[in-house]
Amino acid sequence: MDNRVFQVVEKDETQKSSKPEELIENFSEFMLQQQLYRAAIKEMRTKLEILDEAFQVRYDHNPIHHIEYRLKSPKSILEKLHRKALPVSTDSIWENLTDVAGVRVICNYIDDVYRVAELLLKQDDVSLVRVRNYIDYPKENGYRSLHLVVSVPIFLAEKTEHVNVEVQIRTIAMDFWASLEHQLKYKAQDEISQDLRRRLKACAESIASLDIEMQSIHKELQNARHNSER
Ligand code: GTP
Ligand code: MG
Repeated sequence: MDNRVFQVVEKDETQKSSKPEELIENFSEFMLQQQLYRAAIKEMRTKLEILDEAFQVRYDHNPIHHIEYRLKSPKSILEKLHRKALPVSTDSIWENLTDVAGVRVICNYIDDVYRVAELLLKQDDVSLVRVRNYIDYPKENGYRSLHLVVSVPIFLAEKTEHVNVEVQIRTIAMDFWASLEHQLKYKAQDEISQDLRRRLKACAESIASLDIEMQSIHKELQNARHNSER
């Protein structure tokens, strides 16, 4: 058995219990849960890859530039549970954490973002749990992205489990901005000056109009190509 979680739990100082196995009430349950989340990521990646290929065949255009994914580490899971004062158990993870399995889809153009979301949600076995549209409603700092939490069935030998996956869909430009903002936040740790915040937000706005212009040029190019092929 993999005992990494025990090591992480043992190092966790926010809990007073000296017995790590009391923190996650059932260790093998936790390992099974991790495996289910891993399977859900795999499932989602495959769905997205197939969708991208089908779109390419049909419309001669790849909506997806690339896909990133991550399984939240046991350490981050525990940190989040503690931060939100939630019980430390697999049930609590199922119920309260929607981002244990995370997939990020980076698209070429804004239309692609919505197309990918639409095609994904159209699938019979994908159900929408939550949507946050930070493109139409950007965050105060300028952050833009379409966030979906979807649930997908994972078929096991004896039962079927429905597992949540957080899917962040954004353009290359939005992703470019988000990585700089993340870096800055991480490095500066709350001490980002007002001036930097303002400049970063201005960047987000330039990027948004750039995305719109790139989309429009791309559309005209495609139309011109279709017309010449007729
Ligand atoms: P968390 O508790 O942090 O997961 O936030 P939430 O449950 O309110 O979800 P939300 O949809 O706001 O954000 C989830 C994820 O989106 C984060 O973990 C980041 O990956 C990304 N994200 C959200 N806001 C920002 C932001 O301002 N900057 C960057 N770089 N990423 C962000
Ligand atoms: Mg999160």
